[in-house]
Amino acid sequence: MSETYHDLVAENDFPEDGKLAAVLGGWSVLVVKTDGGYNAVNDRCTHAASPLSTGRIRRGAIMCPLHGARFEAATGHCIGGAYANLRTFPVRVSEGRIAVAVPDEAPGPQERPVSV
Ligand code: FES
Repeated sequence: MSETYHDLVAENDFPEDGKLAAVLGGWSVLVVKTDGGYNAVNDRCTHAASPLSTGRIRRGAIMCPLHGARFEAATGHCIGGAYANLRTFPVRVSEGRIAVAVPDEAPGPQERPVSV
């Protein structure tokens, strides 16, 4: 499956709360800043499809606001393994701009959060 990088934001303008949600190429993407850099995941909990972007970020983990599942931002791994891992997207920082690569094919309904 081919993918394309989409420009997101200047690094200097990344929100101080450490997360930024956007729709890129039809995909709902949540970018999280951690100690290791920027990580992008599909903004859809694998439990019941809640957007994750309204959840809290703590110590590199994203907490789902609906039922509290936690996912590692860097890997999409579901901590505790109760649910499937999140889809992750490559992130590139070049000349002070953050870009995220998403598949060229639009997401199906099983890849979109329920509110989109
Ligand atoms: S929808 Fe995320 S934990 Fe249930």
